Amino acid sequence: MRALTALAQPILLTLEPERAHDLAIRSLRTGLYPRAVTAPGSPLRTRCFGLTFPNPLGMAAGFDKNAEVPDALIDAGFGFAEVGTVTPRPQMGNPRPRVFRLMQDRAVINRLGFNNEGHEPVHRRLRRYTRNTAAKRIIGVNIGANKDSEDRIADYVLGIIRFADVASYLTINISSPNTPGLRALQGGEDLERLLSEAVTARDKAAQHRGHPIPLLLKIAPDLDGEGLQAVCAGVERCGIDGMIVSNTTLSRQGLRGRKMAEEEGGLSGAPLFERSTIMLARTYQLTGGRVPLIGVGGISSGADAWTKIRAGASLIQLYTGLIYGGFGLVEDILETLRSSLSSEGFGTIADAVGQDAGTWAARTAEPA
Ligand SMILES: Cc1cc2nc3c(=O)[nH]c(=O)nc-3n(C[C@H](O)[C@H](O)[C@H](O)COP(=O)(O)O)c2cc1C
Repeated sequence: MRALTALAQPILLTLEPERAHDLAIRSLRTGLYPRAVTAPGSPLRTRCFGLTFPNPLGMAAGFDKNAEVPDALIDAGFGFAEVGTVTPRPQMGNPRPRVFRLMQDRAVINRLGFNNEGHEPVHRRLRRYTRNTAAKRIIGVNIGANKDSEDRIADYVLGIIRFADVASYLTINISSPNTPGLRALQGGEDLERLLSEAVTARDKAAQHRGHPIPLLLKIAPDLDGEGLQAVCAGVERCGIDGMIVSNTTLSRQGLRGRKMAEEEGGLSGAPLFERSTIMLARTYQLTGGRVPLIGVGGISSGADAWTKIRAGASLIQLYTGLIYGGFGLVEDILETLRSSLSSEGFGTIADAVGQDAGTWAARTAEPA
């Protein structure tokens, strides 16, 4: 099966990006993907936010926006899957074309604008899924606000209440560049209000469920030093359980190809790696390693994944790397993580987290 999917990857890359994505979702739904075998007692098992992950590599938000294939993603080797972004009401997103491949840079620019089916159908699917599966699998739900919402903070609170019974963890996504004004929630009074209302909703939901539900905040890689400091202080003050660093960037620094580079939207993939890893290491330092971090941005090899962990990530996620590398990349990354642990003398992933945070935090990224 792995050989078959390796053959399919170059074909997918010739199709219009959203068509290729639909086909990928369809093949996952119908079982056409390689199954990974996780050995029991794997050294990659890791605990974070009170949950036990079979391995630290997750599928990032945006691939399975409507929770159609979280189980297939985990079967294919991911340690966890994050579905969404989901908004209270369904949304079409921006007009097409809105996803662009930058082949030469192994990057993508997207301005999808939170296209999704809305809370109801996604919740129904997840409830069916959690009812039907005996295995304790980790599925995060990434929540957002409708573009035309009059009270965006209320949309996040609704998302927390809605998905608390089916999500292993919840992510507040205020870092998409494709919903005008959304990133403004990353600072000032709005941030304070958002975090405190979100935490209150999380605590109420947890009381109702009888166990805690981790609440994470996903941030943009384009925050300046002061902005990042304010977010980290707010996260610790309000008791947010973890952070995801980072979403896509508005920067176009370091692109080799000019084709498509002028398209509006968020850039992901290889050119985001350095910027998001610097941000990750600074977040690790600012929070003193007390807040677990998911490192995401530009991972396209096992070496990249290991670098993120050493820079401060307790868990990692990817999306664009999969577009170019296919599902074989998942097993390649896990294999490199296993061999890096052993060759560098670490017993567990947690032992390696943040070892290089100082070096990465001292590097400078070009301004966005
Ligand atoms: C096509 C596309 C759609 C995305 N949609 C979302 C989304 O709905 N919510 C979100 O939090 N992040 C979304 N992302 C961002 C990814 O989750 C990730 O943070 C970012 O792409 C950086 O990782 P990567 O370089 O491995 O792709 C999207 C990314 C891409 C490429």
